[in-house]
Amino acid sequence: MKYSEMLDYNNMPTHISVIMDGNGRWAKKRGMPRLYGHRQGMEGVRRIVQACVDLNIRYVTLYAFSTENWKRPQDEVGGLMKLMVEYFNKEIDELDEKGVCVRILGDVDGLPAGPKACAVKAIEQTAGNEVLGLNIAINYGGRADIIQAVQKICTEVQDGRLAIEDIDDAVMDAHLYSAGIPDPDLMIRTGGEKRLSNFLLWQNSYAEIWFTDVYWPDFDIEVLSRAVYDYQNRDRRYGGLREDK
Ligand code: IPE
Ligand code: IPE
Ligand code: MG
Repeated sequence: MKYSEMLDYNNMPTHISVIMDGNGRWAKKRGMPRLYGHRQGMEGVRRIVQACVDLNIRYVTLYAFSTENWKRPQDEVGGLMKLMVEYFNKEIDELDEKGVCVRILGDVDGLPAGPKACAVKAIEQTAGNEVLGLNIAINYGGRADIIQAVQKICTEVQDGRLAIEDIDDAVMDAHLYSAGIPDPDLMIRTGGEKRLSNFLLWQNSYAEIWFTDVYWPDFDIEVLSRAVYDYQNRDRRYGGLREDK
């Protein structure tokens, strides 16, 4: 039986975050350049968006480019930027028709003009949509996210608009790139590595984490369903005890 047929549709995670890793190794295994892996990774993005719509997931956040990924060779960074432009140009109308609302998490102003313009257009065009919230983390770092939130909060304190003792979880939430989006329930990392790589450090604090050796270009609805099935069989305690204990 398929995992997608074993899911409890009354207990779906509201928000799934994904570290899409393994594009380079996927390509290397085939004797192909890393960028070919990234191109196939774009198909993985298409598939997960459709899968989330089909499985009735409300939000998905995809880690596409980290603040640390600028360290890669210039041609790989340039190729990734071009792929992002291509992705938005090709997909945006279809995403809009499906009712997908695109948001970018990260420092958009730090992107080159081309990808920045496409990202802004995608956000504007899909702003009112409500079927699936697709958050793409580009030029995103969990620490940078927390720092920019703290800076905004400090400015409000300095201007007398906020009292220090009123700073709480909700105030932090409201100043992060993900303001208004509930925290992820499930975080998936493909590609076999078992680390966070600076992804949603604040927001993932109580996410259930699921790792797989599957490389991102091979990701599909069955892999997603396996992760969700596993999630549905976990016991989320949030530091407390199970109700029957
Ligand atoms: C993830 O794949 C995509 C990005 C980080 C942009 P990688 O490029 O990290 O692939 P591996 O980890 O080298 O296989
Ligand atoms: C994490 O993958 C970033 C993205 C998927 C965008 P990396 O491949 O950059 O992470 P590390 O370097 O293995 O930690
Ligand atoms: Mg990697």
